[in-house]
Amino acid sequence: MLARIREQIDCVFDRDPAVRSRWEVVTLYPGFHAILLHWLAHWFWQKNFKWLGRATSQFSRFLTGIEIHPGATLGRRVFIDHGMGIVIGETAEVGDDCTLYQGVTLGGTSWNKGKRHPTLAQGVIVGAGAKVIGPIILGEGSKVGSNAVVVKPVPPGATVIGIPGRLLEDEKHQTLKSAPKFTAYGSSTDDKDPLAVTVMELVRQNELRDQQIEELLRRIETLTKTDSTASGEQP
Ligand SMILES: CC(C)(COP(=O)(O)OP(=O)(O)OC[C@H]1O[C@@H](n2cnc3c(N)ncnc32)[C@H](O)[C@@H]1OP(=O)(O)O)[C@@H](O)C(=O)NCCC(=O)NCCS
Repeated sequence: MLARIREQIDCVFDRDPAVRSRWEVVTLYPGFHAILLHWLAHWFWQKNFKWLGRATSQFSRFLTGIEIHPGATLGRRVFIDHGMGIVIGETAEVGDDCTLYQGVTLGGTSWNKGKRHPTLAQGVIVGAGAKVIGPIILGEGSKVGSNAVVVKPVPPGATVIGIPGRLLEDEKHQTLKSAPKFTAYGSSTDDKDPLAVTVMELVRQNELRDQQIEELLRRIETLTKTDSTASGEQP
């Protein structure tokens, strides 16, 4: 159990650029508190103490603003950042290393008592305010943009944005070909610093200008030589 708690603390360091110490995680991270309380609620639920499970879940909601149904299944190192307003339904399954931001709903769309909430495979990132609804599967390492409403399955590694959710299909957002890597807030790692891009462009243009000037000087020199030869002058 202690190892699991430690792992839960450590995963914050890989995923929140703002974290400063373990003490901060233990005392000030509602996502961490919600996960720990969910472990207890889930245990009650599985032991058939349904009311106690629900009561623990509601206490956690009161404390953290995060509502996780005690029946929901959460993997290891699931990170809930900020958390306020998150709702995770009874039959939702959240894989290892997933990251959820504030305002995310993993909800149902039917009264069907069976599986009616989403399944998130390993390493999925769900942006702030996104709603993922229905018994759909979000593939390994996929990303959901903030405020998207996802109603259809998402392939591994894909990025989905908008309402209703649509896949980003440019080269940068190709579906998964290798193991997913966490990037803070789901942003692509090949993003370049705009300042660096501008400076590099200026350098490139400067080099081009230098080449053009050199070429002009070379031609002027050739013309001058031709002129002097034609008029019989000594070079
Ligand atoms: C969806 C997301 C993962 C994509 O990140 P990315 O791979 O770096 O993609 P880009 O920023 O290059 O955006 C690609 C395109 O999607 C659009 N886009 C990005 N996020 C979007 C969103 N949430 N809703 C609608 N469109 C979005 C961009 O405008 C861009 O469109 P364009 O190609 O027409 O210019 C990211 O934008 C996102 O929403 N992450 C969640 C962040 C979050 O919730 N943070 C909360 C922290 S508290």
